Amino acid sequence: MQQPRTESHRMILVTGGCGFIGSNFVLDWLAAHDEAVVNVDLLTYAANPDTLASVANDPRYAFERADVCDLDAMRALLKKYAPRAVVHFAAESHVDRSIHGPLDFVRTNVLGTGTLLEAARGYWKSLSAQAAGEFRFVHVSTDEVFGTLGPTDPKFDEHSQYQPNSPYSASKAGSDHLARAYFHTYGMPVMVTNCSNNYGPRQFPEKLIPLMIVNAIAGKPLPIYGDGMQIRDWLYVSDHCSAIRRVLEGGNPGELYLVGGDAEMPNRDVVHTICSLLAKHRPGRDYTQQITHVTDRPGHDRRYAIDFSKLQRELAWKPAENFASGIEKTVLWYLQNEQWVASVQSGDYRKWVETNYQQR
Ligand code: NAD
Ligand code: DAU
Repeated sequence: MQQPRTESHRMILVTGGCGFIGSNFVLDWLAAHDEAVVNVDLLTYAANPDTLASVANDPRYAFERADVCDLDAMRALLKKYAPRAVVHFAAESHVDRSIHGPLDFVRTNVLGTGTLLEAARGYWKSLSAQAAGEFRFVHVSTDEVFGTLGPTDPKFDEHSQYQPNSPYSASKAGSDHLARAYFHTYGMPVMVTNCSNNYGPRQFPEKLIPLMIVNAIAGKPLPIYGDGMQIRDWLYVSDHCSAIRRVLEGGNPGELYLVGGDAEMPNRDVVHTICSLLAKHRPGRDYTQQITHVTDRPGHDRRYAIDFSKLQRELAWKPAENFASGIEKTVLWYLQNEQWVASVQSGDYRKWVETNYQQR
């Protein structure tokens, strides 16, 4: 039986920590805690290990390249590091890619989450009663599992029905159901967070906001899908990270927590805001001239919006940024980190841009 870790040896295990949200989480975690973190990541196209260069030599940080679908590897890593908690970010995360290749999403998001849960169950059962009681597994999920809202529908909350519409959201829904089942069947202390659209530093430029910023700077088209009136509820990434920390420390096992930014906005407005900020910080061009309307995404969800009052009421969380402050910070980050942008625009990236945009 494993011994409970002493305070000085406590650590957490994060999956997908070289991706957008995971890397922000690791950096914020190490800035705020003495507690160590091990980052388990397969380093897919979406990962950029340079993002964590600033902590690579920090004795509180460890990195392990591994696939969450590999049960033996997950078991071995849990045994090796004996974390007090797992925060599971690793996933295939881009809706458009799920339309072109759904099975990668089924594998990583459903099988990978199931595999990690199963490895964690064995580990959790091996702990002493005290350590098992303190152990937590946070599964990081999305609001997209609830489907789409009409213009006047109430926001999603913890009682919303699961109605996923894309292969991505269906695979995340499957992973949420597995997380729920591990609590109900085995009593494993699993919690699920369902968050709205994130934006901020270090987001791979396949998602709307970083794609528009980097294309605008490069003088390329700004491709808005359909009429551009689809609404998303935008949340600055460090606010998502703070919500996950709150759930990890104070959330009730077996429960869902919805996380949002109270910042519903149509895509067209988001793109125009980016153009205005670029005109302010890198003047000399009318960036709106680069906007084009292209064929819509198949099955495109029209509106997402989150009622995060449970998180506010029970765990005293609310976002620190509003959209105006967060988007300006984000635009400035991309202007100041063109090297980072160049480093992620590999041949594979260019191939993806061709696949997704050339036929539209
Ligand atoms: P991302 O695509 O930027 O990063 C995913 C990371 O997971 C990458 O580092 C990748 O290498 C790693 N990974 C992928 N497959 C793996 C595997 N089989 N084994 C180990 N590692 C693997 O994703 P993100 O935008 O940072 O999202 C992180 C999580 O948050 C996902 O679970 C996503 O569903 C969820 N989420 C994202 C958003 C958003 O707006 N981006 C909003 C709500 C929830
Ligand atoms: O809601 C949370 C989800 O938000 C996360 O679970 C996903 O991982 C994340 O990718 C995001 O999904 P979206 O599909 O909403 O994000 P994306 O950035 O791809 O698109 C945002 C909106 O912008 C969406 O309505 C589609 C539109 N869009 C996107 C791209 C890439 C465009 O109009 N043009 C584009 O080129």
